[in-house]
Amino acid sequence: MNKVLVTGGKGMLATDLIYFLKKENYEVISVDIEELDIIKEKDVHEFILKTKPNILINSAAYTAVDKCESEPISEKINGEALKFLSQACANSSVKLIHFSTDYIFSDNFTKPISENEKTNPINAYGKGKLIGEENILKEDNLDYSIFRVQWLYGKNGKNFVDTMLKLSETKNEISVVSDQIGRPTSTKFLAELVVKTLSLNLKGIYHLGPKDECSWFDFASYILKDKNTKVLPIPSSAYPTPAKRPFYSVLGLEKINSELKDKILEKTWKELVDEYLKRS
Ligand SMILES: NC(=O)c1ccc[n+]([C@@H]2O[C@H](COP(=O)([O-])OP(=O)(O)OC[C@H]3O[C@@H](n4cnc5c(N)ncnc54)[C@H](OP(=O)(O)O)[C@@H]3O)[C@@H](O)[C@H]2O)c1
Repeated sequence: MNKVLVTGGKGMLATDLIYFLKKENYEVISVDIEELDIIKEKDVHEFILKTKPNILINSAAYTAVDKCESEPISEKINGEALKFLSQACANSSVKLIHFSTDYIFSDNFTKPISENEKTNPINAYGKGKLIGEENILKEDNLDYSIFRVQWLYGKNGKNFVDTMLKLSETKNEISVVSDQIGRPTSTKFLAELVVKTLSLNLKGIYHLGPKDECSWFDFASYILKDKNTKVLPIPSSAYPTPAKRPFYSVLGLEKINSELKDKILEKTWKELVDEYLKRS
């Protein structure tokens, strides 16, 4: 079980995944859209037959949440393509690992959301990702894990931490929404965690993230704690975006904590930010 095909291989999470996979001596085949466009059904089938991986980690996605509202291609990449990937994996007995999002849930939660809560996405990105999950679940004889994650940042992608740091170079004050709560998650942490789960061969849907949660305002304030820029809390209503976001979408972690006993799950979001800020 050591040959892993990573799709969307140039992405923010994928590049950290590839690092930890190689560190643990997995044989990695990494492809991005130039080598394998996951919305091309025939190419997906042929590529999997040709490369014969044991595991396919699908990190390819259309992740510009606001643009998803006006770009129908996003539903093809985040939703429909999972039908092709699932069928090709089931046909060749390849384990499929896929990433989904907290945005598949509605706006009605007040405590951490468990894996079996009812889904009801409030934006197009969430709808597309939910179609992707449903396509995986529909495929008989497919060995799969779906990891739902949220608020990712990593050194190989455009992300909130870098945006705040960049803004602090020119602004004395930055206003950040304080009424949306989630788990800020570094892709380095997530990649290490996902690679740790491979030996457990987890099956089904799991929520992953650091042990605690915060608002975007708390997150920004911590990122800029050593800068001279002041962070001001504002309500979501003062920062309208094309895609609606849930106020409270903290993914509950009981399931992963009951199945993986590892210190990595004790990490706090602040520790992850500290690690990220110290990166070379
Ligand atoms: N970022 C977050 O905060 C977040 C939150 C929740 C869940 N997730 C999920 O976590 C996973 C990883 O996210 P990420 O932030 O690392 O994504 P990312 O950095 O946007 O990487 C996605 C990669 O997929 C590529 N891609 C796009 N369309 C493709 C296609 N048709 N075929 C093959 N590759 C294609 C992208 O190429 P281009 O850059 O050229 O388009 C990019 O290299 C995704 O499933 C995402 O939905 C992310």
